[in-house]
Amino acid sequence: MVPALRALIDFRPLNLLTPRYDVGGPFEALFCRNVMIYFDKPTQRAILSRLVPHLAEDGLLYTGHSENYLHAADLIQPCGRTLYRRAKGTRA
Ligand SMILES: C[S@@+](CC[C@H](N)C(=O)[O-])C[C@H]1O[C@@H](n2cnc3c(N)ncnc32)[C@H](O)[C@@H]1O
Repeated sequence: MVPALRALIDFRPLNLLTPRYDVGGPFEALFCRNVMIYFDKPTQRAILSRLVPHLAEDGLLYTGHSENYLHAADLIQPCGRTLYRRAKGTRA
């Protein structure tokens, strides 16, 4: 990565299994591709309930081709092959 781009990015580790995500936001885009494949559906749902509040109202969650969150449609709604938006009524 070129230094000019690197200087704009805040690199921090985040364990998705921790109860709170101290990452700020809301963000226009969240990239979480081929990560949720490691977790069962209840764990995915718990992670999404912590992740979604960090997504802007019109923000996009980018996922992998083998992931789907139809089981969490009250939290996140598909809007493309691997794209999701916050479900209406979810709180920031
Ligand atoms: C298959 S790789 C995908 C990497 C990248 N997102 C991509 O699409 O190329 C899975 C990633 O999930 C991450 N991961 C696994 N468990 C995690 C957790 N509890 N919290 C955060 N990341 C986790 C791993 O560190 C690894 O980088």
